[in-house]
This record gives sequence, structure tokens and C-alpha cells, in this order.
Amino acid sequence: MQPGLIILVLKIAVVAVTVLWIASLIALARGKVRLHGRINIAFFALTLAALIGLEVIVRIISPGIFDDYFKRHDAETSMFIHLMFAVPAAVLLFVMLFTGLKHHRNYHIAAGIVFSVLWVGTFITGVFFLPHELP
Ligand code: HEM
Repeated sequence: MQPGLIILVLKIAVVAVTVLWIASLIALARGKVRLHGRINIAFFALTLAALIGLEVIVRIISPGIFDDYFKRHDAETSMFIHLMFAVPAAVLLFVMLFTGLKHHRNYHIAAGIVFSVLWVGTFITGVFFLPHELP
């Protein structure tokens, strides 16, 4: 399994789920709250699936697969900065789903503002700063 290819697949996944997330915000802006919720349930499930897939590779199938890769690409700092956004975004994802489903409107909107900053940071640092390799 090639680390550069895994990064490429993850970048495509992040772009794809971000399209969904933007669609959910457009639905919200048009007053279609239920549609916003439905799209975001898919956003949650797909993002979690990608995260679990990555964790299975990194922790179980090929531990240490990225160590040498990021060193070779001089991208250890980029990875660290990416994780500063991605890890709290992953935690907030659960808060977003819970507060949305429970209609805790104020908490949901407040967490949504923080989540938006973290997700945009995850997107920019992940898609533009992490090195990928074509097969
Ligand atoms: C910028 C980000 C977001 C904003 C500003 C936002 C805002 C809102 C608002 C205003 C509502 C209506 C709440 C109510 O009146 O009860 C809502 C509902 C909901 N949101 Fe979000 N949201 C955001 C992101 C998300 C995310 C990331 C998820 C899930 C991972 C999510 C899941 C839901 C769900 C499940 C509902 C309930 C829909 C329904 O009533 O059927 N939202 N959101």
C-alpha cells in the first residue's frame, strides 16, 4: 500500500464530502432544515467511514506507514498543522450530529461556527499542503 496514494484518495474523499456539506448549508439557507439534516447525516457517515478506514490502515494493517513518507517530503510540520484542525473537527462532528438531531438550536449554531472554521482549515491544509503521489 502506497502512502502517497492513500493521501490522494483521502483528498478526493474530503473534496467529495465538502461538496455535500456546502449543499447542506445551501439547503439551510433556503429554509430546508430537514434536507440540511439528511445531507449532514450522510456527511457524518461518509466522513467517519473515511476516518475509520484511515485508522485501520495506520494502526492495524500498516503501522508507521507514513513516518518515512512525511520525512522524505519534508511535510511533518504540514501534517502537524493539518491535525490541529482535523482532530478537533472530528470530535465536533459528533457534537454537530447530536445537537442537530436533538434540536439544541443555539448550541448547534455556535458549534457550527467553530466547526466551519475547523473544517475549512482541515480542507485547506489537507488538500493543498499534504503531499500526494499518483499511482
Ligand atoms: C455551519 C454549520 C451548521 C449550521 C450553521 C447548522 C445549522 C442548523 C440549524 C439552524 C438547524 C435547525 C435547528 C432547529 O431549529 O432545530 C440545523 C438542524 C440540523 N443540523 Fe445543522 N448546521 C450546521 C452543520 C451541521 C452538521 C455538520 C451536521 C451533522 C454532522 C448537522 C446536522 C443537523 C441535523 C441532523 C439537524 C436536524 C434536521 C431536522 O430537523 O430534521 N448540521 N442545523
